[in-house]
Amino acid sequence: MPNVAVVGTGFIGPVHVEALRRLGINVRGVLGSSADKSQQSAQQMSLEVAYADYQAIIDDPLVDSVHITTPNKTHLDMAKRALIAGKHVICEKPLAMTSRETAELVEITRSKPNLAAAVNYNIRFYPIALHARDLVQSGQLGDIFTVRGAYSQDWLLYDTDWNWRLVPEEGGDVRAVGDIGTHWLDLTGFVTGLKVESLLADMRTFIPVRKKPRQAVATFTGKETAAPTEYDNVEIRTEDWAAVLLHYGGGARGTMNVSQVTAGRKNQLSFEIAGSKGAIAWDSERPNELWLGHRERPNELLLKDPSLLSAGARAYTNYPGGHNEGFPDTFKQLYRAIYGYVQAGDFDQPKPYPTFEDGHHEVVLCEAILASHQQRRWIDIQ
Ligand SMILES: NC(=O)c1ccc[n+]([C@@H]2O[C@H](COP(=O)([O-])OP(=O)(O)OC[C@H]3O[C@@H](n4cnc5c(N)ncnc54)[C@H](O)[C@@H]3O)[C@@H](O)[C@H]2O)c1
Repeated sequence: MPNVAVVGTGFIGPVHVEALRRLGINVRGVLGSSADKSQQSAQQMSLEVAYADYQAIIDDPLVDSVHITTPNKTHLDMAKRALIAGKHVICEKPLAMTSRETAELVEITRSKPNLAAAVNYNIRFYPIALHARDLVQSGQLGDIFTVRGAYSQDWLLYDTDWNWRLVPEEGGDVRAVGDIGTHWLDLTGFVTGLKVESLLADMRTFIPVRKKPRQAVATFTGKETAAPTEYDNVEIRTEDWAAVLLHYGGGARGTMNVSQVTAGRKNQLSFEIAGSKGAIAWDSERPNELWLGHRERPNELLLKDPSLLSAGARAYTNYPGGHNEGFPDTFKQLYRAIYGYVQAGDFDQPKPYPTFEDGHHEVVLCEAILASHQQRRWIDIQ
């Protein structure tokens, strides 16, 4: 099994560490934004090495694989250097800031066929999402007519909520779409196999000025702390909300709605896929349930139970029926897929995980969404 280094010690870095450890994969060390932060985190998580800087990871011959969990602006440089040094890369989404950057990364992976280069679209690995994919792709819903859904959150509802994602130079020119919309686009593309051919988007920044605290605030923790007393007013140039109409190849139609300012929606991704024989619907806040819609008999509610799932989904389920699997489990199952593939050693086999090509495609869609909104017109996806 490979030795892993995890870069980033904020919200999602420790989630990677925990998931890897549950699989028995050795996490050799971590890197935070300073040597002190690395020390603190390594101690908290009982890890052997606290790296002083990124080059120390690159230079560590015992590190086979790097997990990048830092803000989006750092992804290109870190992923590039790790691949060139011959290390597998599992990079958080979105893969990089622009499609030019993601194309560069895809190009590098072509010269490194024996390295895993994965993007952390973990939501694919809910057992019900995998089962939904098998239902759709084995034709059980018939021809797909429509895909609709949303990704909604409330953690940026107030003008006192602050995070690096609000700043285009740190997170990218699109925010709600890049941060959570790409999860929806990746998941629904994965489940249906449909490709977006063109799209029309509308975006809105409801909170045009926010209060940036003079002290750092950890991701998602703004709601748990009092409003900042010392702050700077900052003009916001990224969207709080977006709605997108999608045309898929083959004639299916889609609608996606994303929002980071919907009170009460903590972190809800939902989709409904309707076909000529039936429909399905899923809500990530009730991830172990799949609604199956029928025309000529009562609808059904499938509860996750390995014995009731497709073989493909069963392979990524570790608990019996009634024992819920949730957000942290999706990371574990994604890494099972990646490192199982790496261990098998046949890199000509289809990759059972989201690749850098997938990550590039999501960023191409993000740019098309922004261009459509700005130019008030349909944009074709090349
Ligand atoms: N797949 C998911 O479900 C999911 C969930 C949350 C975040 N993410 C992605 O993960 C990434 C990080 O998000 P987060 O919410 O954990 O952010 P965060 O702000 O909570 O954590 C980022 C961490 O990176 C550190 N950091 C910043 N620059 C660094 C550098 N140059 N070297 C080392 N460390 C550095 C920061 O100090 C911080 O600890 C983003 O790309 C985000 O889109 C994915």
